[in-house]
Amino acid sequence: MQLWTESLRGRFLVMDGPDGGGKTTQLGALQATLEAAGLEVVRAVEPGGTDTGKQIREILLHRKDLALAPMCETLLFMASRAQLMAETINPALERGAVVLCDRFISATLAYQGALGVDRAMIVSLGETAIGGRWPDLTLILDVPVDVGMGRVGKQRDRMESRGDDYHSRVRDGFCALDEVYPAPVVCVDAVGEIATVSERVLAAVQAACKAEDAC
Ligand code: TMP
Repeated sequence: MQLWTESLRGRFLVMDGPDGGGKTTQLGALQATLEAAGLEVVRAVEPGGTDTGKQIREILLHRKDLALAPMCETLLFMASRAQLMAETINPALERGAVVLCDRFISATLAYQGALGVDRAMIVSLGETAIGGRWPDLTLILDVPVDVGMGRVGKQRDRMESRGDDYHSRVRDGFCALDEVYPAPVVCVDAVGEIATVSERVLAAVQAACKAEDAC
């Protein structure tokens, strides 16, 4: 009998969600599990993940002296994404690795959608930026705003510095993602012990693989 993890070869998984949801920790745990099962895992991160993307990330998150119009912000995230697809994600998928990506178009829908950028337009721009290669599964690590922002601490980037109202709209955007997203999305409760959340993540990936609609 084939291990369920075998069906993940050449698959594209994304973890996303409000700030402070513990994505980095959970991606590390998922990576360790998949590697222990013998899979090649490639990690990717947005924005950034390439030399070009790192420059774009600096403008987007840290150059608070630069005022960015919402559409400029949106297009910069898309530009970084296009480079990440070309340089990292597509080659990894082609050779059969499983790609674990920290954030994706789901984040643009939630964060720039919360600034008023039209969500259908974000999907359409995204389709162009990624050449139609949508993730096989997107896991949203959901946390209430007070819990998430409490974990973020005092040193805040451009997005984290926006107020709680904005972050509530971002969370709402993630919760309503499956209404607009053209690819499978699963919401995971990210409140609780790290090991408990890891079990929920693994269960969600396994269920998606077995259902065969995502993996
Ligand atoms: P990070 O904190 O997970 O590294 O993500 C960087 C910040 O950028 C985070 O606050 C979410 C935000 N972001 C967007 O606003 N739009 C996007 O498309 C992406 C990928 C991230």
